[in-house]
Amino acid sequence: MILVTGGAGFIGGNFVLDWLAQSNEPIVNLDKLTYAGNLETLAGLQGDARHIFVQGDIGDKTLVAELLQTHRPRAVVNFAAESHVDRSIHGPEDFILTNVVGTFRLLETVRHYWLSLGDEDKAAFRLLHVSTDEVYGSLAPDAAAFTEDHVYEPNSPYSASKAASDHLVRAWHHTYGLPVLTTNCSNNYGPYHFPEKLIPLMIVNALAGKPLPVYGDGMQIRDWLYVQDHCSAIRTVLDKGRLGETYNVGGWNEQPNIEIVRLICRLLDELRPRADGLSYATQITHVTDRPGHDRRYAIDARKIERELGWKPAETFETGIRKTVAWYLAHPDWVANVQSGSYRDWVSHHYGASVAA
Ligand code: NAD
Ligand code: DAU
Repeated sequence: MILVTGGAGFIGGNFVLDWLAQSNEPIVNLDKLTYAGNLETLAGLQGDARHIFVQGDIGDKTLVAELLQTHRPRAVVNFAAESHVDRSIHGPEDFILTNVVGTFRLLETVRHYWLSLGDEDKAAFRLLHVSTDEVYGSLAPDAAAFTEDHVYEPNSPYSASKAASDHLVRAWHHTYGLPVLTTNCSNNYGPYHFPEKLIPLMIVNALAGKPLPVYGDGMQIRDWLYVQDHCSAIRTVLDKGRLGETYNVGGWNEQPNIEIVRLICRLLDELRPRADGLSYATQITHVTDRPGHDRRYAIDARKIERELGWKPAETFETGIRKTVAWYLAHPDWVANVQSGSYRDWVSHHYGASVAA
């Protein structure tokens, strides 16, 4: 049995589905169901006794202690977080509460549980903290990709809150001996991605005939990884990672945003051509840049490959084609997301021109 937090979100949801597709080890899934939590992603697990969903907060020590005592997991995988940079700029408080205070409380509750275990279970126990490449800050165009030794230079309220959580995790290992592992991953994409993030937003807006809002010049670079590759990296680190270590996870796939958007338009032109015969690229609109926008991220993923033998299975070409096809095949999932609070967020952030 493992305990997963944030397992109704984008990556956590994919992780739960992947895990139960490959193993019969049950999952307790603790998720607060913020705007980003979507149980419809896990609809296929309805009635599956291997998945126990609990709505709740990682910062609720009583609830988490009770779950740990009842289910006695051998590991905790912490995905729960506020994850959207733009939201952190508009309203940072939730990011501090969940990513910093929530992680702190989770660490404390897990530590007390771990201390209560017998020697064998105690030695086998792991807490894996899922983090991001954004903690390292922004790279110059010609700088080497982020290694695990790169200095932490977070620039947004989101990345600062994740950096703080990483430091807490590290300190709980060094001070209390808690058996932790941390992964710092680059940008994910794939099925069940909430359409406030670049790739799903562009697909969904393109199909709806709306503008495709590219921030600034669109030359900011991200290193994209297919979400199932991130899930397999987490499984690998949980299995074989060295205690107290951090592992960078990335796709060796740096792309400027504008190229991503143009590629999505080309794929849609092929798979679902516009009725008027024009390219979806005519919908691209450059809008005001994100404040403090990091220019470039790139992950050096050699450590996880060298030490643990993990490499991404998907190329960007195959992964992005699968992703566009998934959104075309799941209009109901998208429509249901859009009928929720996402609608309010989009109009607040972009104004009426882009709102759903
Ligand atoms: P997401 O926003 O899609 O999902 C987050 C989930 O956490 C949601 O289901 C939400 O309901 C839940 N949650 C939020 N606050 C909670 C709380 N206090 N208690 C319990 N549950 C809570 O995020 P995601 O994109 O799936 O990211 C998951 C993790 O991976 C995050 O820690 C994020 O920082 C990290 N990460 C994301 C990416 C990416 O590209 N999306 C890349 C690297 C790392
Ligand atoms: O690098 C890992 C991080 O990737 C994760 O830690 C975050 O949780 C995740 O949200 C993601 O952060 P980004 O800020 O890179 O993702 P986002 O999809 O919001 O933006 C990707 C790039 O696209 C970024 O340079 C901003 C730009 N962008 C984004 C949106 C939503 C646009 O140009 N237009 C948009 O409308």
